[in-house]
Amino acid sequence: MDAVDVAVVGGGVIGCSVAYHAARSGAKVVLVEAEGIGGGASGAAAGMLAAQAEAHEPGPFLDLLLASRDLHGPLGEELRERTGLDPEYAWSGTLSVASSVEGERDLYARYSWQAGLGLSARWLSGEEARDLEPALSPDVSAALYLPEDGQVNSPRLVQALVLAATERGVWILDFTRVTGFVTESGRVTGVRTARGEIPAGAVVLCGGASSGILAEDLGVNLPVYPVKGEVLAVGVRPAPTRANVWGERCYAVPKRDGRMIVGATEEPGVHDRRPTLGGVARLSAAALDLIPTLKDAPFLNAWGGLRPATPTGRPILGAVEGWDGLLVATGHYRNGVLLAPITGKAISEAALGEAPSVDLRPFAPTALAGQEAL
Ligand code: FAD
Ligand code: GLY
Repeated sequence: MDAVDVAVVGGGVIGCSVAYHAARSGAKVVLVEAEGIGGGASGAAAGMLAAQAEAHEPGPFLDLLLASRDLHGPLGEELRERTGLDPEYAWSGTLSVASSVEGERDLYARYSWQAGLGLSARWLSGEEARDLEPALSPDVSAALYLPEDGQVNSPRLVQALVLAATERGVWILDFTRVTGFVTESGRVTGVRTARGEIPAGAVVLCGGASSGILAEDLGVNLPVYPVKGEVLAVGVRPAPTRANVWGERCYAVPKRDGRMIVGATEEPGVHDRRPTLGGVARLSAAALDLIPTLKDAPFLNAWGGLRPATPTGRPILGAVEGWDGLLVATGHYRNGVLLAPITGKAISEAALGEAPSVDLRPFAPTALAGQEAL
């Protein structure tokens, strides 16, 4: 097959973003996906762009989350112009709520360090939280409002990225598994697929929860493992809340298409993506405690996905030591949708031999040397 500048392995939101950004820089790109595009975790995600609600401390990871959140607005506009597809962005914030003393304490700690950094964050009493979102349970005793967080329709974002990538000439090979790498004297020079070999100047591994299995082919330890998440959707029109609401046991995300997505379970090491009755029961109970009026909402469906997790909870980004021509972009765990723009931008820059526009060193594969997947 024809040689390309960049071969991307995996057609989730990360691979599609890398492929789009590389093609936008003028590279010849192939994207190889074992199943359907967006059929992995990216198709299951709730789509929150919750940089502040998901951050646990200041540092490089928070900086990465915030930088990527900033890129979503312009990327969304660009994709809409290029493809006519609307990824359904909404910037109504996250309202994280507490209904216990421990919950309040944790939330207040988050408020303190975020406000101390100058990030937009408001501390609210239970009453003030209900003034903002009247559908909230009377049990809510305090809340942290993070007005700059947002959300997107994740499957739509993937669709728009892949359409824009195709328009830029990216060659999409879906339903084609990468079975290994072509190597020559310590350099990865292409990928091996069921349809033949594809020579490439650089290969970027974006295989989600399966990335570690592929890396083994080269003797590279990539400690990525699945953390299953189940979510469910109910029909709600009008939406009971404007913001994404995070309770102590679930979150609820109002979608523009009249659904509210309730998530999510966390099951490390589980490979079966199917939703379970137990998961639906736990999420339903938690959702009713958070927003009691949901009891009248028609149940639509439930699904599951495998978050690509790492021992540090942070992604693995950058060149693999010992193998020239190989880069990884995986392990985005709970924040792959949020982190897709910055990952696509910085990793495509690195794959094309440019200096990445953000410092990827804290996320280098070597930062996890010696650590094992679950
Ligand atoms: P995936 O989307 O899993 O894509 C990897 C792709 O690689 C798959 O399509 C797979 O088929 C392919 N692949 C694997 N092996 C091969 C091979 N050998 N050859 C070719 N292709 C291969 N993140 C957020 O930012 N916000 C959220 O609100 C959010 N909610 C979530 C809710 C749930 C229930 C779950 C499960 C996840 C959620 N996430 C969220 C996390 C987010 O979905 C992931 O971090 C993100 O989708 C990871 O993207 P990815 O492209 O790395 O992986
Ligand atoms: N970020 C939400 C989730 O992973 O469930």
